[in-house]
Amino acid sequence: MKLNTLTTLLASTALTQAQYFTLMSIRSASPIHYGQITASGQRLYINRNTASYCPEQVGDACPAGNTTTFAGGSDSLSMGVIVPGGQQVYIDPVCGAVGYTQAHSAAMPQGAIVGGWNVSLGDPYGYLSRDRGLVACPAADGEGGYQVFGQVEGLVLSEECLRFTAFGINATGPGAWQYT
Ligand SMILES: *[C@@H]1O[C@H](CO)[C@@H](O)[C@H](O)[C@H]1NC(C)=O
Ligand SMILES: *[C@@H]1O[C@H](CO)[C@@H](O)[C@H](O)[C@H]1NC(C)=O
Ligand SMILES: *[C@@H]1O[C@H](CO)[C@@H](O)[C@H](O)[C@H]1NC(C)=O
Repeated sequence: MKLNTLTTLLASTALTQAQYFTLMSIRSASPIHYGQITASGQRLYINRNTASYCPEQVGDACPAGNTTTFAGGSDSLSMGVIVPGGQQVYIDPVCGAVGYTQAHSAAMPQGAIVGGWNVSLGDPYGYLSRDRGLVACPAADGEGGYQVFGQVEGLVLSEECLRFTAFGINATGPGAWQYT
């Protein structure tokens, strides 16, 4: 009886434990093939350094913060962070940019799209897909590289943009306390 209770408890803990993963962009014969999808300035990029923050009080308990992980992915998608309240991924309904909320805030642009994600993790890797697909466009901020966009209705993206497939690769835990 006691053992059963413990087993049930452990099983349900395992079920509710978040599975974290990193994302890789796949588009053969392109600059974004095998690119790492990273968080910076509330937006997602490919192969840009991850921008994160660790509060001084937390110190050594923070993850390294130099990799970008995600969690969830059945309909909604979150950043793989520890900060209470988490950080939700959304798509800007006007420009299509994939963004994420600031820590301690649920604020998003009006009409932000949060659903439509589907992760299926596997061995050796899985996939993250989204309604209408994902696209990378040359970053417009002069910092180089590519920025990640989601196709939204009525949006016409530049011809330099590339559709890509996203591989999901299991991670062992959150990549940062919070992404900035
Ligand atoms: C992240 O930082 C850790 C610790 O400083 C280091 O061991 C690791 O190689 C870094 N990873 C990346 C992807 O830069
Ligand atoms: C999610 O993706 C997997 C394969 O990548 C597919 O089998 C499954 O049907 C998808 N689920 C939804 C809800 O679209
Ligand atoms: C990744 O995790 C999923 C379950 O979340 C599992 O089915 C898959 O085998 C794992 N992949 C690897 C390479 O361990």
